[in-house]
Amino acid sequence: MKMDHEAAGLAQVIAGDTAISTVGKEGKGLTYRGYAIEDLAQEASFEEVAYLLIEGKLPTKSDLKKYQDTLKADQAVPDPILKILNELPKLADPMDVLRSACSVLGVIEPENKSHNTNNANNAKQIASRLIPFSASALLYWYLSNFAKVKQIETGENSIAGHFLHLLHDKAPTEEARRALDVSLILYAEHEFNASTFAARVCTSTGSDFYSAIVAAIATLRGPLHGGANEAAMKLIESFKSPDEAEAGILERLQRHDLIMGFGHRVYKDHDPRSNIIKAWANKLAREPKQVVMLSIAERIEKVMWQEKHLFPNLDFYSALVYHFLNIPTFLFTPIFVISRISGWSAHIVEQRENNKLIRPLANYIGPDLLPYLPIEERKG
Ligand code: COA
Repeated sequence: MKMDHEAAGLAQVIAGDTAISTVGKEGKGLTYRGYAIEDLAQEASFEEVAYLLIEGKLPTKSDLKKYQDTLKADQAVPDPILKILNELPKLADPMDVLRSACSVLGVIEPENKSHNTNNANNAKQIASRLIPFSASALLYWYLSNFAKVKQIETGENSIAGHFLHLLHDKAPTEEARRALDVSLILYAEHEFNASTFAARVCTSTGSDFYSAIVAAIATLRGPLHGGANEAAMKLIESFKSPDEAEAGILERLQRHDLIMGFGHRVYKDHDPRSNIIKAWANKLAREPKQVVMLSIAERIEKVMWQEKHLFPNLDFYSALVYHFLNIPTFLFTPIFVISRISGWSAHIVEQRENNKLIRPLANYIGPDLLPYLPIEERKG
């Protein structure tokens, strides 16, 4: 007998303990290591949040300075990887580029697991290496294909600044820097989502840090997970006015299409991250074209609530924020990766601290035992 719908996809199943974040617990919203996402998005920087997730506590001023210096020093991409990036097709999917770059870094700078299978210090070093490295590698590939590469290291103190500086070949405004910074904070961690769970499954076999990150990137790539922000942008851009959007969404809903950027497996009536990023979309929308896009998005939100009681998740308004920051749509999901490496890393470290192989059972729905027929006796 098939599993009931409730249990399919491990919905409602508690698959392990974590002290890293809580998602959607009644009255609690989203917290990272006990701190409310609203406070972190208002007060903290992404670097503070990454430190909090990976080290388990907020940094002091000197911890943060040291961590920022480490992230800055880790912006470089080794020559063999630059060569590989130069050879990759111009029309490759950037998520494939990022997945490959992280995998090759694991060959060139492998994790030291030979003497101690839970070398947390080395794991944390790799975590801080991978965050700026992934931004540099991605943008090196993108710029060498579509524009001029001037540099890979920017000397910027923040990941948001480094990314925007590389992408636009100039220092970003404080407002742009902060908008991306907040988005990185919101994307950094989300409990046992699919990519984090993939990283934990990989880690549970005793595999290395890079392999777990590569498994997570591969899992995030799908449109039901990380890919939704790009799909949401394409949806918003496909309409010229709010009225056209309303008609288009109603038509899609009649066809039972999924509307990307809406709904959530755990949150049932709102995503606590959505209002924060929506406020940034409002702040950044200045040109008339941007204002129209925002009103299209708001109309889609209204129709989705009226028709399906579905609310925007983080991906929906993040798409507009990235668009208003002049970030090409096909780099949206890779930005999610750059940020989420912090959460994945925290989970890899946590999984190793109290490891147990993750190996569930399957509900078998295949045939009962069959007699084996010699090949001559089988019919077509
Ligand atoms: N657009 C239209 N209908 C949606 C929908 C969406 N975005 N999300 C859920 N629904 C509908 C489903 O079709 C289903 O309807 P039904 O009961 O008539 O069959 C119902 O709502 C329940 O959805 P279900 O697919 O069982 O929920 P889930 O928990 O498995 O899925 C998501 C959660 C996130 C995968 C799902 O909402 C989705 O695919 N959203 C779009 C992709 C996206 O934005 N992903 C990013 C997540 S952060």
